[in-house]
Amino acid sequence: MKIGILVGMENTFPPALIEKINGMGEGITAEYVKIGGVRMGEANDYRLIFDRISHEIPFYRSYLKNAVLNGTIVVNNPFWWSADEKFFGYSLAVKLGLAVPKTVLLPQKGYIKGVTDNSLRNLEFPLNWDSIIEEVGLPAILKPHDGGGWKDVYKVNSKEELWSYYDRTGTLAMVMQEFIDFSMYVRCYCVAKKHVLVMPYDPANRRYLSREENQLDPQLEDRIVRDTILINETLGYDLNTVEFAIKDGVPYAIDFTNPAPDADIWSVTEPYFNWITNQVAEMLVDYAKYSVPTLRYHRWNKWLNQDAAQGLSAAAGELAQDLVAGVGQMAQKASDVLSEVIETITEPITPKRSRKATAEKTGSDSSKNAKNTRPTKAAKSAKKE
Ligand SMILES: Nc1ncnc2c1ncn2[C@@H]1O[C@H](COP(=O)(O)OP(=O)(O)OP(=O)(O)O)[C@@H](O)[C@H]1O
Ligand SMILES: [Mg+2]
Repeated sequence: MKIGILVGMENTFPPALIEKINGMGEGITAEYVKIGGVRMGEANDYRLIFDRISHEIPFYRSYLKNAVLNGTIVVNNPFWWSADEKFFGYSLAVKLGLAVPKTVLLPQKGYIKGVTDNSLRNLEFPLNWDSIIEEVGLPAILKPHDGGGWKDVYKVNSKEELWSYYDRTGTLAMVMQEFIDFSMYVRCYCVAKKHVLVMPYDPANRRYLSREENQLDPQLEDRIVRDTILINETLGYDLNTVEFAIKDGVPYAIDFTNPAPDADIWSVTEPYFNWITNQVAEMLVDYAKYSVPTLRYHRWNKWLNQDAAQGLSAAAGELAQDLVAGVGQMAQKASDVLSEVIETITEPITPKRSRKATAEKTGSDSSKNAKNTRPTKAAKSAKKE
């Protein structure tokens, strides 16, 4: 069984991972994937591919989707990775009850060539900047809705600064986000949606700090671990980092759609590097041996599996028959009710009499009163019930 690794320029984590997996004695070989032209529906040799770079190489992303279709397990799922972005993540986290800085998604400043005013008729113009600023507050962070590598991230202190940076953002969709004046910042590795490594981090110097010298209150750390697992369970990522800015004891989730997080030994430092390499190697081997193919998570899988497709069409047939029968019964009931109503309203109105008088009359001439005393269909069925 083989595990393929798809990499960019990083050169410490992938070789360490390959060495670790190959030394585990599990009968699984890890190696770099080699790809040429990709044929439609063509299966590849790998039980699992670990993707570190398809966010930068669209050809790889397409190759990986095709690999999923053909039964390969891909970590992380390239379809979800294609769909998610920071702003969606913030909205999801709010619904999960996590602490998230107030965030507003802004219409782009610029558009690709060919987009004219006419194409933008759905956009409110001018934008109500005052209400957005009031909502988020100042200072604030202006950053891409789908960014990475700390690119195009600005801290703005005033409306003028906000406009001045916004004017430079071109075709990027940006978010304006509440600035969290944090006392501590942590980056958490999450592997297999269950193993969490909380790493204190110094964003100003872009440096990971030691856990020993930067201890967290145990309750706060528990919450951070819980929030990290919840985020990854819901987003579905098998490998991800979640960043929290901690202010007044509250961990605010800042950045958590990082499906190929930095794992370089020179940046994360050796103790964290070893933890990451071991946990990821174990996860990949475990998934290769026991996990279901990634395609099982997708709607179209049902249509590829003949048995399932037949089962589905049989079920659809039964459902259609039930529906037809149900509609027939309803129609019958409706026509019964209607005929009762018609019968009731077309019956001659009988002048009201006292019970005694009617009885007397009935007694005196039963044949004459036969019609007037005949129970309606409704009364009959009421009696039956
Ligand atoms: N709401 C915020 N409040 C305070 N600081 C923030 C906030 N959002 C971002 N920052 C700062 O900006 C940095 C980069 O932001 P973010 O992580 O969202 O962008 P990124 O492009 O994903 O960067 P990276 O790749 O370094 O993680 C954070 O490490 C943090 O220091
Ligand atoms: Mg970040």
